[in-house]
Amino acid sequence: MILFIASDHGGFMLKNKLNDYLRRKSYDCTDMGCDSTESCDYPDYAEKLCRQILKMPDSKGILLCGTGIGMSIAANRFPGIRAALCHNSLEARLTRQHNDSNILVLGARITGDELALDILDTFLSTSFEGGRHKRRVEMLDNLTV
Ligand code: RB5
Repeated sequence: MILFIASDHGGFMLKNKLNDYLRRKSYDCTDMGCDSTESCDYPDYAEKLCRQILKMPDSKGILLCGTGIGMSIAANRFPGIRAALCHNSLEARLTRQHNDSNILVLGARITGDELALDILDTFLSTSFEGGRHKRRVEMLDNLTV
């Protein structure tokens, strides 16, 4: 599975931990920034990662900011992106099974490191259930203003 990870300054430290963990587990994960704890703007990193995910539909993304909320709002502006802010493994499992989420969002100031790893493992190891959920996911792509 090809993965991309990005954060703002609020998620920088946790991003590095998750990226190291994924490398140890031999995932192909590309870090798209940011590169330090210096203040930066989460929409820039959400955009960069979402455009990459849309170019490679089988890939998955991980976005982090302080709360996870800004990254979620930004990522879900892109049609075809289904970004899920998860606070526990149950949400991670259900959003993969039901929403076929292609981006996991974590709030580094909200979620502890160990829990974040558990959520990440669950997100990556759970498949989409399809069936009735496929129709609903397709409906998402048809929502226009
Ligand atoms: C940055 O201070 C913070 O606003 C950002 O990381 C995120 O929490 C926004 O939603």
